[in-house]
Amino acid sequence: MPALHWWPFFPFSNAMAKPPDPYRRRALGAAAGLAALLPAASAQGQLRGHGNAVEGLPIPGSAEERRILNVIEEVYRNHRYLSVPPEDGRLLRILAESIGAERIVELGTSTGYSGLWLLLALRKTGGKLVTYEIDEGRQAIARENFARAGLGTLATLVLGDAHEEIAKLKDPLDLVFIDADKQGYPDYLKKLLPLIRPGGLIVAHNMASPPPDPDYVRAITTDPALDTVFVNMDSAGVGITLKKR
Ligand SMILES: C[S@@+](CC[C@H](N)C(=O)[O-])C[C@H]1O[C@@H](n2cnc3c(N)ncnc32)[C@H](O)[C@@H]1O
Repeated sequence: MPALHWWPFFPFSNAMAKPPDPYRRRALGAAAGLAALLPAASAQGQLRGHGNAVEGLPIPGSAEERRILNVIEEVYRNHRYLSVPPEDGRLLRILAESIGAERIVELGTSTGYSGLWLLLALRKTGGKLVTYEIDEGRQAIARENFARAGLGTLATLVLGDAHEEIAKLKDPLDLVFIDADKQGYPDYLKKLLPLIRPGGLIVAHNMASPPPDPDYVRAITTDPALDTVFVNMDSAGVGITLKKR
């Protein structure tokens, strides 16, 4: 039975002490949505060992995909800093490729593991990634990893504090992946939400562990212009937020 993390509810339910009605309805809806994931978590256990839908890497559809997946696997095996788990990387690729994302922004490049999954999608959609990292050493490793995968030309790596650097963005975005400083999520959302196109996605990592910022959780679950689900909550947890059309 995988460990289940309940604490994302706590900051949320604390904030719900006496919410106004619409807020309360949304909050209860979000809690019910999260609760609905619990049977899925144990079903996930039953699926282990059946095909590759739960564990491992996707089955490569071409020699090029196989080559890129080999780099992705190697980066994960040798990673020294916190990267998303492989199932979250696969999810990023699936989301990006399925919405035909051409303009993706990532906050928190680290050594490029999640970026590689996004680039795997972008090579199909013909799009570009702009990814932000404050640590020069990690950024240099990410640049090498992107080049090794043959995907370097699809990525712009920006060095610096993403809170300041993203203010320079002007063009519409299809997908934003937030995985930098955890207390910074509300600010990233505030600055980037206006740029996300209707039908675009905001994907946030660490919605289960470490504890997410309650202001971020509230912002993505109480805005009628957004719809959010939480997945993979038996590990780090991912919030997927649609900016409705
Ligand atoms: C959890 S790691 C990102 C992992 C990466 N997304 C992956 O899966 O491969 C978070 C990264 O955010 C970077 N970071 C933290 N605060 C930042 C900021 N204000 N601006 C840019 N990068 C930041 C850290 O240096 C760290 O490398």
